[in-house]
Amino acid sequence: MILAIETSCDETAAALIDDAGRLHANVVSSQAELHARFGGVVPEVASRRHLELICPVVQSALDEAKLTFDQLDRVAVTQGPGLIGALLVGISAAKAIAWGKGLPLVPVDHLLGHVAALYLEPVRLEPPFLCLLTSGGHTLLLDVQEHTSLRLLGTTLDDAAGEAFDKGARLLGLGYPGGAALDMLAREGDPGAYSFPVARLDGLDFSFSGLKTALLYAVRGLDSAELERRRADLAASYQHAIVRALVEQTLQAAEKIGARQIAVAGGVAANSELRRALAGAALAPVELCTDNAAMIASAARYLKPLNPPGYLGLDAYASRQLA
Ligand SMILES: Nc1ncnc2c1ncn2[C@@H]1O[C@H](COP(=O)(O)OP(=O)(O)OP(=O)(O)O)[C@@H](O)[C@H]1O
Ligand SMILES: [Mg+2]
Repeated sequence: MILAIETSCDETAAALIDDAGRLHANVVSSQAELHARFGGVVPEVASRRHLELICPVVQSALDEAKLTFDQLDRVAVTQGPGLIGALLVGISAAKAIAWGKGLPLVPVDHLLGHVAALYLEPVRLEPPFLCLLTSGGHTLLLDVQEHTSLRLLGTTLDDAAGEAFDKGARLLGLGYPGGAALDMLAREGDPGAYSFPVARLDGLDFSFSGLKTALLYAVRGLDSAELERRRADLAASYQHAIVRALVEQTLQAAEKIGARQIAVAGGVAANSELRRALAGAALAPVELCTDNAAMIASAARYLKPLNPPGYLGLDAYASRQLA
């Protein structure tokens, strides 16, 4: 039985998984409302909130699974990438639990975690596959040859797709984080109403900053009554451009490496238009797309644990190291 902890951004999460890969608990406490009035995650506020939530969230995962600390075999925790202060809260809690019970500790990369959401029920995907990992901070095309080995094929040169969704949502007055709200609004609009640019780059990289600027100019050109009337069309057209960029590069990557299976994970994989556009792909379950500890638990099953006391010096990292 593995207890996994995730605190890389603004979700405090804990999950329990057994050696057959069956989840026994998956608890996520989101701080989104706390940060909404600032229009983005405030790192220091996030760290302090993780500190308040980490013990109750772990306890509620144990309660949900009807387990005690004595029934754990391993503790897993997100090591990075993410906000250092936020990560350190999870890492400190994981070290304390593991050390206190004499258990091994498994450090898990957050991005490997997003991919590992695909190994859980009901998808139960097995490598090899091509993975589009599209989240708040990353847009990656990955050649996944084994559960824990990722080869980078392409990445964004500027904003991540999730960031593009969030910035677009902010321009349309949808609050933070706005990806899901923009997705909802887009359902009422015409995706062909505006022709927003789709960056076509050599190779398998992405770029979303020009698109964001195009939306900014479109919004600026409207008075407030017109903006209100065209908001759904703007949302639909903007979303359509992001999804087209993601789908086109993914299909190109699949062709290039001769992938027989395409998969999509990360927060933006919850987007309804992207899911429709890549309906034949393996799609991470919507509730496992945004940050959670179930995906960290899933990845931990395939990683080598560290024994005590070696892990007591384990540190967090802020930027992408994997692939
Ligand atoms: N339905 C949706 N449509 C589009 N975007 C969405 C949807 N649901 C969530 N998102 C976006 O997903 C992102 C959050 O995803 P996730 O939790 O994976 O990111 P993160 O953990 O902040 O970043 P990273 O994993 O890269 O460190 C946000 O940008 C959010 O707006
Ligand atoms: Mg994430």
